[in-house]
Amino acid sequence: MLTTGGFTFCISCLVFPLGKMAEVNPTLICAVVLLSSAVFAFVEDLDDTFKDTRMDDVWLVDFYAPWCGYCKKLEPVWQEVGVELKSSGSPVRVGKIDATAFSGVASEFGVRGYPTIKLLKGDLSYNYKGPRTKDDIIEFANRVAGPAVRSLPSKQMFEHVMRRHDVLFVYIGRESPLKEKYIEVASELIVYTCFFSASEDVLPKAVTLSELPAVVVFKDGTYFTYDEYQDGSLSAWVNKERFLGYLQIDGFTLYELGETGKLVAMAVVDEKNPTEENIRLKSLIQRVATEYRDHFNRDFQFGHMDGNDYINGLIMGEVAVPSIMILNTSNEQYFLPSEPVETMDQLLHFINSVLDGTAQAQGGDSVFQRFKRVAYDAKSTVMSVFRSSPLLGCFLFGLPLGVISLMCYGICTAETDDGTEDLELLKTERLTDEEEEEDEEENEGQRQPMELEGPGDEGKEEEQEEQEEKSSADKKVD
Ligand SMILES: *[C@@H]1O[C@H](CO)[C@@H](O)[C@H](O)[C@H]1NC(C)=O
Repeated sequence: MLTTGGFTFCISCLVFPLGKMAEVNPTLICAVVLLSSAVFAFVEDLDDTFKDTRMDDVWLVDFYAPWCGYCKKLEPVWQEVGVELKSSGSPVRVGKIDATAFSGVASEFGVRGYPTIKLLKGDLSYNYKGPRTKDDIIEFANRVAGPAVRSLPSKQMFEHVMRRHDVLFVYIGRESPLKEKYIEVASELIVYTCFFSASEDVLPKAVTLSELPAVVVFKDGTYFTYDEYQDGSLSAWVNKERFLGYLQIDGFTLYELGETGKLVAMAVVDEKNPTEENIRLKSLIQRVATEYRDHFNRDFQFGHMDGNDYINGLIMGEVAVPSIMILNTSNEQYFLPSEPVETMDQLLHFINSVLDGTAQAQGGDSVFQRFKRVAYDAKSTVMSVFRSSPLLGCFLFGLPLGVISLMCYGICTAETDDGTEDLELLKTERLTDEEEEEDEEENEGQRQPMELEGPGDEGKEEEQEEQEEKSSADKKVD
């Protein structure tokens, strides 16, 4: 019942020679089988009875497809996760389910890609979107399986968690409607960050709150208080505040930031070659993040990225290093300053020009850009094959190309009359492409005013983001 490739192999190795012996010792075989199933039980193989029996426990489940490469990569990690959670006495049960064989279960939990990692806790289901490493997954399981809001009963506890978390959300005060709201938000957003509650007297002396109860985020060496009138809904505020004011940004962070809806203003620098220019741009962004937080925190996340490899792939171009750029993660548009940024004033001018819409946007996710993406990815794949083994590349791409061009040559020389017609056809095709692109842009222009973060829209957006995230996570694993 509980089998995995490797372990089945082990069992047959162990059992087969025994079976071949004339005197088979049944107890020995039993012992072997029992021992092995104890090992298997770290990760339980689930089937479609799972959805009826799961409710009493908290489950961490890998929905996989047998043919999927990333699932195979996850497999050994998943075993380690199972072993570690069990041996650390965690109540979380670890399982895996073939989502293609039990598609009913998979669709019930909204599985749309493989592998999908979910933590299931009663009626709640949490998607894991982080890097697929043992430590990250275990940290996630422990955080999400526990209570959504943990209380900090003493000064020592408070200091302890302050040291352990860069960003710390704390509810301060007695029971209140705000606390109920806070718990609600926490049980949704606990996939991203930790939530605590405390009474006023465990706070450091430096913290003065004008009003109780309050929700406060401690980060960047200071703290910020949630203000219902200025900050909108608590969950939107938590979403925007859950990152440090200034971040080291990589591809994965970019996708995480996508969910905040903020623009990302960053210095693209070369960390291995910290020239004066590199350092200056980084510190300019750092200063803007702290000195102008009140102006820009609502719309911008600040940080720097090491090297331009990732960003070049994203924008399908070449970003100078070092340089400053602003990225709109919602539509993949980006902005470059029209002249090099050297002073704080120039940087502020650039940021403001993006905010007020006067800066020229580049890139985007229009139909044309999507075509470009397909071509770009194809080109990168071909390039990487050639780089790693030129001979194979010649054979793989040269041979078919040669055959095709020979065929074309044959066709063209045989029927010269049709040449003009083909040209006409090509032209009209190009035209329709361009028209389509324009249509798309127009539609988007019309759509924008209506995108006022209605609750109905969120689901759709989330879906998209999730898809994107999947591919980002996949890239990351790669
Ligand atoms: C970023 O993209 C979103 C979604 O297309 C759009 O609504 C928003 O106006 C863009 N922001 C800027 C500054 O271009």
